[in-house]
Amino acid sequence: MVKLLITSLTALVLSLAAVNAQTGPINAASYPPANQVPDINSPQVQAWLKEVNLTGVPPTHLNVPDVKGGAPDCAKITPQNDCYSVCDECKANDDIITCGLPNSWGVTFDDGPSPDTPRLLDYLKTHNIKASFFVVGGNVVQYPDILRREVQEGHHLASHTWSHYALTSLTNEQIVAEIKWTEKAVFDVTGLKLKYMRPPYGDINNRVRFILKQLGYIVVDWTGDEFDTNDWQADNGVPAATLLAAFTKSLDTYIAGNKSTGFYCLEHDRSPVTVNLAQQFIPLGIARNLTFANVPGCQHDAQPYQSGSAHNNNTTTTLAPTSTVSGTSRPTGSTSTRTPVPTGSSANLVESMNIASAFVATVVGFLFM
Ligand SMILES: *[C@@H]1O[C@H](CO)[C@@H](O)[C@H](O)[C@H]1NC(C)=O
Ligand SMILES: *[C@@H]1O[C@H](CO)[C@@H](O)[C@H](O)[C@H]1NC(C)=O
Ligand SMILES: *[C@@H]1O[C@H](CO)[C@@H](O)[C@H](O)[C@H]1NC(C)=O
Ligand SMILES: *[C@@H]1O[C@H](CO)[C@@H](O)[C@H](O)[C@H]1NC(C)=O
Ligand SMILES: *[C@@H]1O[C@H](CO)[C@@H](O)[C@H](O)[C@H]1NC(C)=O
Repeated sequence: MVKLLITSLTALVLSLAAVNAQTGPINAASYPPANQVPDINSPQVQAWLKEVNLTGVPPTHLNVPDVKGGAPDCAKITPQNDCYSVCDECKANDDIITCGLPNSWGVTFDDGPSPDTPRLLDYLKTHNIKASFFVVGGNVVQYPDILRREVQEGHHLASHTWSHYALTSLTNEQIVAEIKWTEKAVFDVTGLKLKYMRPPYGDINNRVRFILKQLGYIVVDWTGDEFDTNDWQADNGVPAATLLAAFTKSLDTYIAGNKSTGFYCLEHDRSPVTVNLAQQFIPLGIARNLTFANVPGCQHDAQPYQSGSAHNNNTTTTLAPTSTVSGTSRPTGSTSTRTPVPTGSSANLVESMNIASAFVATVVGFLFM
């Protein structure tokens, strides 16, 4: 009797493990290498190119990046009358640059997932703040479990391309490859087809806009330089105090205005330093009684994916300034310790282990009754 039970329990545990295998780690080797523009001659990209209608793409010349993959150097750019964001400071009507909620901070993090993202997720959870994560495809296939956790905890996913190259420096076909590989990676991990994107460096012109629109994407930038936290500069040695002072000034200017629309703030979950800084920037907004919202919350979008749905119901949060400003934030400044990189589908595995052990406990309890 006991032996029979143990045998069937083993079978149960094995079958739970099998279920998890289907949602487990994806094979990064079946995607393009990270940090490189994907090969447009692969059968996969060629198939995507057959599906997208590039007739009528504005014939803009390619911008030459300043450094490999980086933003173009405006001194070397010939104006092309193509509403170029970086050098002409041109925004198209379709570019979303403000959060459509009054008195609000649109919370966005670019460049992840990274080994530091889980620490940020812990922090956001303590404040019930939901963010939009503009993810890099090459990182998605490296950290699929972190991406799944973002969705499970009510955050929103959007695209930040495959390799983070400046899009105006890429060919039409390379842009398609950058967007579609990222879309596929996120879909393979979560079942969600992305709808919003942010161009790396905010680098976009009418040619890039045309292609993104053909692929079904809506562009979300940040609300001007004053709402770029420049957190990444702390990775290059700029003191946190300098960045915090500049951003405090921006917030106070915003607070003094009519606040009829919110702002999108640019932050990154790409390094220990930027994740620590997020935990210093956000309390500045809490102290000023701002509402925090992600892109679905700011845009009042109940379907923030081209297909698939996630539990993104609570997309806005207002925190009482007095009770949350101090005490609850995690200690910052420990830049040398990284959260270990999770391997395999640990969250799901833990969940099914709990179910299995609860079942074992119940059966064992029954046997000894
Ligand atoms: C592609 O787009 C062009 C311009 O919008 C249009 O005229 C043409 O019919 C489209 N082709 C297909 C196959 O949909
Ligand atoms: C609020 O201020 C912004 C910019 O300062 C202005 O464009 C807008 O018209 C103002 N809205 C109202 C309702 O006063
Ligand atoms: C904070 O903002 C909310 C909504 O915007 C408002 O109802 C509330 O009165 C504000 N509280 C304080 C202390 O300013
Ligand atoms: C979220 O909202 C949708 C539609 O409003 C609803 O169908 C769904 O049950 C809600 N999810 C949760 C977890 O409440
Ligand atoms: C949404 O937030 C409200 C207030 O914080 C809470 O009462 C409600 O249960 C939440 N709903 C979901 C689906 O998480």
